[in-house]
Amino acid sequence: DIKQEIKRLEELFTVDTAKLKGITEHFISELAKGLSKEGGSIPMNPTWCMGFPTGHETGTFLALDMGGTNLRVCEIRLPEEVGEFDIIQSKYHMPEELKTGTADELWGYIADCLQQFIEYHHEGERLDKLPLGFTFSYPATQEYIDHGILQRWTKGFDIDGVEGKDVVPPFQAAVAERNIPIRLTALINDTTGTLIASSYTDSEMKIGCIFGTGCNAAYMEECGQIPKLEHMKLDPKQPIAINCEWGAFDNEHQVLPRTQYDIIIDKDSPRPGQQSFEKMIAGLYLGELFRLVLVDLNENPNVKIFHGQDIAALKKPYSLDASFLSDIENDPYENLQETYDRFKTHLKIECARPELELIRRLCELIGTRAARLSACGVAAICKKKGYETAHVGADGSVFNKYPHFKQRGAAALAEILDWTVGRDGKPLGRGHDPVEILPAEDGSGVGAALIAALTLKRVQEGS
Ligand code: BG6
Ligand code: GLC
Repeated sequence: DIKQEIKRLEELFTVDTAKLKGITEHFISELAKGLSKEGGSIPMNPTWCMGFPTGHETGTFLALDMGGTNLRVCEIRLPEEVGEFDIIQSKYHMPEELKTGTADELWGYIADCLQQFIEYHHEGERLDKLPLGFTFSYPATQEYIDHGILQRWTKGFDIDGVEGKDVVPPFQAAVAERNIPIRLTALINDTTGTLIASSYTDSEMKIGCIFGTGCNAAYMEECGQIPKLEHMKLDPKQPIAINCEWGAFDNEHQVLPRTQYDIIIDKDSPRPGQQSFEKMIAGLYLGELFRLVLVDLNENPNVKIFHGQDIAALKKPYSLDASFLSDIENDPYENLQETYDRFKTHLKIECARPELELIRRLCELIGTRAARLSACGVAAICKKKGYETAHVGADGSVFNKYPHFKQRGAAALAEILDWTVGRDGKPLGRGHDPVEILPAEDGSGVGAALIAALTLKRVQEGS
């Protein structure tokens, strides 16, 4: 019956404190492995973003932000005043077809948006080439900050002929074809952008995280702690931002409590075996997990939810996104009217009250598991670096919009790092957590501009 089924789902999706701690310990060793010469599953990509901004960066920069859900073009002015910035921006929709289309279509579309932005904001002006920071949020191997070889597509992208190659030349070719007056100065990841932008206004910032369509983090490491860079004879104390690409954590399936549904998501994805951690927690997959559970319960003769109804609409892969779950979690529990309406209009399914209760609980379980697992990554970086206190700058649709995500993540961090009781033996109050995950303000755009500014300064100084 449905009550029993809810219990079973609770057992399946709940990750208790001991498990969180176990995952975190394994995470710490995998972060180290990623920095080693042999390497591991987590790429731990050096970004050549060498240190934090001082607040004295100045100039006008363009930022192109190819995020999970949108394409954004920004123009950022960093004035003389320390820590200030002005930003103008336009958002463009990333058409779904583009993600599985051709490379020419992708670069052409991005360049068209850039051109539109410049024509709109600088109509009739003669422009010197503006420096551009390109936030390309996929794993890239970088030997220089203005180049990047795509290691593999993530987040459901599947465009032939791009993986294993430098993404900058085809992007620049599309720009040159349109005579767009820009000069690509830095290719960055959204997590690095978030880290740098957050640290510009808050000196306690140690980690930049994205909890959105994908999930990932960046932090500052010392070159001396990165064995795979040893041959470059860099100053061992020199800080460098590492884009962890932690979505790839546990691709070997050693610790994560994967369910049969997680296994299906992986198997049916364009890159099976990749991004195991990300596939359990990122926004792109939350709706699909929910959908797969419901289809399974409909087919299970012992449960038979939506019995006798046509569930054709529910059977369509990736037809529900994370906002569908958000809306259900926001629906007042007393009557779950919104949930009922959503199922009726969107999926042509009429739910009875016990079904509505199961649906609601399932959203809570999926959303809570995502928040709790992602806290393991944050805790692992803090433990690895020995941070007893830190601010973590976070961005992305799940962090900003998914109900209770922040609180659930904070609770899990407290459990992992044993803060229910403080060092002095007193319980710690809300808002005083030693490690706090805070919303990053306009992370990637400003971050890309700052990194471009830092890069130009380094070039000028010849370092
Ligand atoms: C945006 C950042 O706010 O969040 C992007 O500017 C980032 O750089 C994005 O990629 C991540 O969120 P989502 O939900 O769009 O994947
Ligand atoms: C995916 C990408 C990574 C990005 C993250 C968040 O994990 O591989 O580069 O930072 O999504 O957008």
